[in-house]
Amino acid sequence: MKATCVATSNIAFVKYWGRIDDKLRLPMNGSVSMNISGATTTTTVEFDSSPDADVVELQGKTLDEQQIQRVSKHLDRIRQLAGFTSRAKVVSHNNFPMGAGIASSASAFAALTVAGTAAAGLELSERDLTILARQGSGSACRSVPAGFVQWHYGETNEDSFAEQIAPPEHWNLHDLIAVVQTEHKAVSSAQGNALVSTSPFNEVRVREAHRSVEVIRRAILDKDFTTFGEEIEREAIRLHVIAMTSRPPIFYWSPVTLAIIQAVSQWRTEGLESYYTIDAGANVHVIVQAQDAERVVQRLAAMDGVQDVLRNQPGQGAQLVNEHLF
Ligand code: DP6
Repeated sequence: MKATCVATSNIAFVKYWGRIDDKLRLPMNGSVSMNISGATTTTTVEFDSSPDADVVELQGKTLDEQQIQRVSKHLDRIRQLAGFTSRAKVVSHNNFPMGAGIASSASAFAALTVAGTAAAGLELSERDLTILARQGSGSACRSVPAGFVQWHYGETNEDSFAEQIAPPEHWNLHDLIAVVQTEHKAVSSAQGNALVSTSPFNEVRVREAHRSVEVIRRAILDKDFTTFGEEIEREAIRLHVIAMTSRPPIFYWSPVTLAIIQAVSQWRTEGLESYYTIDAGANVHVIVQAQDAERVVQRLAAMDGVQDVLRNQPGQGAQLVNEHLF
């Protein structure tokens, strides 16, 4: 009744931004991502019939009531599948700074799903694990398979699942995260997601995102860095256009975000090929090929306002491990 899982976060190249079903977390478009090796969550789950409430700890501290409720709701999905009502002890640890613009809900709900189902004695297929993880946090479904992953567009619970495009060793891309802001963002992804339909440009973005999934998937398989990079930048800008034109508008960028966008474009004209993508926050993920990583890290670190540069390579999928956290 006890299991531990390590899962990585992921960076989306085509974004999940807007849902057709809030309860099931069914997105308006499919998305594509890469797991990021340097950002992991380790979670141990143990079901026990004695306590009368779930106990949930992150980094040695009990979560607040709202966060516990979200975890309990996810454990309820697992309990329902397993056919028992035992409460759980959940202990979780992130190896990356919280609020550094790394999607912690992705690694958190992937690890919780895989550890929780194993602790409950369930044996689910990878596809079913992604469907379950998705209901906890949308982006979490993409952290279950390893490497480069596609979350398929689907209009039912069963059709909206994630699947590997290529394993981590297929393409040694580096994701260099330029940290420009460490405080919590003012508007959460959940709130932003709920506002997309108030933007007059949303329909166009959704259409374009469907197209981008195909372009980026192909470019990953072909290791065509230029096609890949140009397309991920377009998609990142589209997400922020939707955010900025939502009602009320959301501005995630800081002046440093824009400075990095401009610098990356400038470096390309000098022959240093790198591309940016930005989630719902101010930090910038700069994607480079392995041979250019060191130079780009140095340039980013030298920029005013860049507090840190976190290096990542393509990461593994969510995996059960033998060492428990308690
Ligand atoms: C901008 O997966 O955090 O990072 O389903 O409400 O937990 P919830 O949202 P979440 O949204 C991630 C949004 C994004 C883009 C992406 O990762 O695809």
